Amino acid sequence: MVERVYDENTVIIFDTTLRDGEQSPGCTLGSAEKLEIARQLARLGVDVIEAGFAAASEDDLRAIQRIAREVGTLDGPTIASLARAVESDIRAAWEGVRDAAKPRIHTFLGTSPSHLRMVGITEAEALERIRFAVSLAASLCPDVEFSPMDAGRTRIEFLIEACAVAVAAGARTLNIPDTVGYVTPEEWHDKLAHLIAETPGAGKGSGIVWSVHCHNDLGMATANTLAGVTAGVRQVEVTINGVGERAGNTSLEEVVMSLHTRQAYYGLRTNIDTTQIMKTSRMVSNYMGMVVQPNKAIVGANAFAHESGIHQSGVIKDAETFEIMTPETIGLTHSKLVLGKHSGRAALKKRLEELGYTIEGEELNQVFYRFKSLADAKKTVTDADLEALVNDETRKPQEFFRLGDIQVTCGTMGMPTATVRLTSASGETFVHAAIGTGPVDASYRAIDQIVKAPNILIEYSVHSVTEGIDALGEVTVRICPPDSTRTFGGYGADSDIIVASVKAYMAALNRMIAVLGLGDIQPEGDSATVGIRTQTK
Ligand code: KIV
Ligand code: ZN
Repeated sequence: MVERVYDENTVIIFDTTLRDGEQSPGCTLGSAEKLEIARQLARLGVDVIEAGFAAASEDDLRAIQRIAREVGTLDGPTIASLARAVESDIRAAWEGVRDAAKPRIHTFLGTSPSHLRMVGITEAEALERIRFAVSLAASLCPDVEFSPMDAGRTRIEFLIEACAVAVAAGARTLNIPDTVGYVTPEEWHDKLAHLIAETPGAGKGSGIVWSVHCHNDLGMATANTLAGVTAGVRQVEVTINGVGERAGNTSLEEVVMSLHTRQAYYGLRTNIDTTQIMKTSRMVSNYMGMVVQPNKAIVGANAFAHESGIHQSGVIKDAETFEIMTPETIGLTHSKLVLGKHSGRAALKKRLEELGYTIEGEELNQVFYRFKSLADAKKTVTDADLEALVNDETRKPQEFFRLGDIQVTCGTMGMPTATVRLTSASGETFVHAAIGTGPVDASYRAIDQIVKAPNILIEYSVHSVTEGIDALGEVTVRICPPDSTRTFGGYGADSDIIVASVKAYMAALNRMIAVLGLGDIQPEGDSATVGIRTQTK
C-alpha cells in the first residue's frame, strides 16, 4: 500500500474515472470492474476516489458501497460520491460512502447564467441551495466538497459569494470546474488566484483545500489544471487516460508526470506511484473499451517510440537526448525476450509479479497454458505479450456465455462463413453458423443468433501488441443496445485476430448482459440443432 504524505507542497490527486469518466458515452462498467479499478487506483496511490453518483441508480449505489467497504480502508484513499444540491442525492451519497474510513460527499450546483436559467433559479436562490446542501452534507459527513458547476463561465463576484457560502456551511474543499472546457490557462490562473485571495474564510491558513476540475473541449485541460496549481490550487480532479464527457477530463498521467518531470519548476509532489501508471491505463482502457490513441502523451503506444534515424541514434547514445522521462518511470519495461518455451510456471509467475500482476491458481494455469502455446508459435515472448495474455485471461466480465470454438472460411472464392460454439453459464452448448461481409462480421452474426441480445457495433479496433508477423493481436470493441446510448466495451487478445475479435465481442456482450440484467435471455440452437442463418442483417 502507498504511504501517503501530506504537506503544503502536496497536490492531492482526486480521481473521477469511476464517476465523470464512467458517465461519458461508451464507458459503462459493471460493479465488479469498478471494484477492480478502484483497487488499482488505490495501488496507484490516488488520494481520493470519486466512486460514482449514488443517486443515479441502485446499482451505482451498491458499487460505491462495495468500494467504500473494500477499498476505503484507513490507509487507503478517501471515497467520495457525487450529489446534486438536493436532499435525496445527498442522503444517497452518504449511504454510498458512510462505511469508508474516510468518506466524502461532493455536492454541486451550476452557477453560470446558463446553468441558473436551466434550473430556473436566481443567484440569490442558488446561494440558498448551496447553504442548504452543504449544511445537510456536513451534518452527515465530516468531509464535504462543493463545486460551483460551470465556474469557468460564472462571473467572479458571484463565484466568490457561492464559495463563501459553501465554506460557511461546512465545505472543506472548494472545487472549481471548467465544465465545458472553455477557459484558457492564463485567464484560469488569474481567476483562481483572485478567487483564492478574495473568498472570505478560504484563504491561506484557513485549512480549505482549493481544487480544479477541467474538461478538454479545446485540448487545454492539462494546461488549465496546471495553471490552477500555479495559482495555489492543491487538489486536481483527473481521470485515467483523460476519459470523460465529450472530449474528456484532465488526464491523471499527464498532470502527475508534468509535476514529476518538472519538479524543479513546480516544486510540488504527489502521492502517486508512477510505476503503476501504465498498468492502470491498460486496465481502464480494456474495461471501458476505450482505445488509447497511439500518440497520447505518457500512455500512448508511441509515447516512447523513436522512429526517425536521428532520434534513434541519439537515444541509443544517450537516452536523455530525446527522452524527458524514462519508460520505467511509468511502469514500462524495456526487457524484450523475457521467457522462452522451456520456461516453467514458476518463472512465468515471477516475471508476472515483476510486472505487477499477482496471479494464482486456475488463472495462473490458464495464463501459463496460453503462454506455452504462444512461445511455441512465436520466437520471442515480450512483456507486452504477457500483459496482453493476462488482460485477456483475467479481465473478463461475468461469463453468461463462453467461447468454445470458432471456425471461419473466408477469402475471394466464397462467402465469408463462421461457425461458433458457445457454452452458457449452466454448461449447455450452442452452435450456430452465419455468413457475413467478412470473417468478423460472420462470426458476430453467428454469435448473435445464439445470444439474442440485440446491439449495434459502434467501434471495432485491432492492433498488434508487438512488431512482427507472429505478433499477438489485441481487439477492442464497443457495442450499445439499439434503444440506448449506454455502451459496453470488450477486449480480446490472441495470435489469431478473428479469435481475438470474437473474444472482445463476447466480453462486451457479457458485460452488457450483466449490467442490463439480461441474464435470463433464452439462447437459440444447441449442439444437436445447428442453425445455419444465411440472411444478412
Ligand atoms: O464538469 C463538472 O462540472 C463536474 C462537476 C459535477 C464537478 O463534473
Ligand atoms: Zn466534469
